[in-house]
Amino acid sequence: EKPGFLSGINVVISAGPTREPLDPVRYITNRSSGKMGYALASAALSAGANVTLVSGPVNLAVPAGAKLIAVETALQMYDAVMMHTQVADIYIGAAAVADYRPQQLADGKIKKAGDTSTIALVKNPDIIAAVAGLQAKPLVVGFAAETDDLENYAKHKLQSKNLDLIAANWVGQAEGGFESDRNALQVFWPGGQQILPMTDKHTLAAQLLKLIAEKLHEKNPV
Ligand code: PMT
Repeated sequence: EKPGFLSGINVVISAGPTREPLDPVRYITNRSSGKMGYALASAALSAGANVTLVSGPVNLAVPAGAKLIAVETALQMYDAVMMHTQVADIYIGAAAVADYRPQQLADGKIKKAGDTSTIALVKNPDIIAAVAGLQAKPLVVGFAAETDDLENYAKHKLQSKNLDLIAANWVGQAEGGFESDRNALQVFWPGGQQILPMTDKHTLAAQLLKLIAEKLHEKNPV
């Protein structure tokens, strides 16, 4: 067992975007680069954890020692996360999962037709809410990416998804959020909160993991 404040702890982290295909050449996705989730994976490894990284398509090196499960769609991410959280102590949902996917997956390239076109979408399963609904549930840590009313939306997600902790970040601003090397977090849990100011994602990940470890010790006192 490696030394560190998460020594021997099994951590599953989701990272990056999902891709929801329309046809063999097109998909719907979002701006997640995976940097936040991969920084969490590195920091958890440094703290001695066993890390499973369930990742959507990104252009990042896999942190040495992490077990990578590469996925594309939200449905694939759901299956991989549900399989690996069976034996997890902590689940961190840093992935930007597409809330909806195209209803139809065309076999061939969709042809250009009228001046307007409509895509019917169906809801994807909520992965983190499913993990939080497991009978033997790990400590469940979510993210909230918001363009407005950060605190209210984050607190609502904490409650409605039955999370132990939620890390809220602004997206669509000049600095932080998607793609940036830096970020800031407002962290909420039932009965408390803490601000982690703007810094690089690696420093931020280590700070967030310290908080997560405190919550794990409260949940499973020795
Ligand atoms: O990847 P980077 O470029 O570094 O950017 C980092 C980030 C902004 C993507 C990251 O910090 C972040 O906020 N990730 C969550 C993005 C998101 O999808 O937030 P949300 O508010 O839509 O979802 C709330 C939570 O539910 C998240 O933990 C998400 O993983 C989870 N979720 C959402 C939908 C769904 N179908 N299943 C889920 O598990």
